[in-house]
Amino acid sequence: MKIREFRIEDYPMVRDLWQTAGLILRPGDELEDVKLKLQRDADLFLVAEQDDEILGSVIGGWDGRRGWIYHLAVRPEHQRKGIGIGLVREVERRLVAKGAKKVNAQVYKWNERSSEFFKAIGYDAQPDLIMIGKQLRK
Ligand SMILES: CC(C)(COP(=O)(O)OP(=O)(O)OC[C@H]1O[C@@H](n2cnc3c(N)ncnc32)[C@H](O)[C@@H]1OP(=O)(O)O)[C@@H](O)C(=O)NCCC(=O)NCCS
Repeated sequence: MKIREFRIEDYPMVRDLWQTAGLILRPGDELEDVKLKLQRDADLFLVAEQDDEILGSVIGGWDGRRGWIYHLAVRPEHQRKGIGIGLVREVERRLVAKGAKKVNAQVYKWNERSSEFFKAIGYDAQPDLIMIGKQLRK
């Protein structure tokens, strides 16, 4: 298995992976918005590939102050083989190279599997913080 940067032709396979892994897709996951992401820090959007099949993916983000992790997903039949941690560690390495000191991930409260995963690999919940947001466009 190798980890490489996402290419736009991967989009259908990665979208299928997101859905198969149970991620909730948002308007920002449409092709046009993914293209916007690639204009910014394409080197942080990674896939784990084996025999031309995409088994996992992660979208990293760097806003100049914090690193972010979005849409980490591994195909269900390939979970618990170290693919998730491999993707996260590679994003972390790339974020550090850009100057990041901290990386955050947003996890739904109901997604215990994800919070257990992040806890196991060194991430802490931040109960003193709440997430706030506003829709700017559809
Ligand atoms: C969360 C997810 C990406 C983890 O990927 P993965 O490839 O299965 O995880 P790894 O094999 O790298 O696991 C590394 C360690 O994390 C911990 N871990 C992983 N999954 C876990 C689970 N379901 N419960 C508890 N601990 C878990 C374990 O300590 C594991 O090491 P071990 O297998 O040696 O015990 C995967 O379960 C997934 O795609 N879930 C659905 C999508 C999702 O919820 N994504 C997160 C959105 S925020």
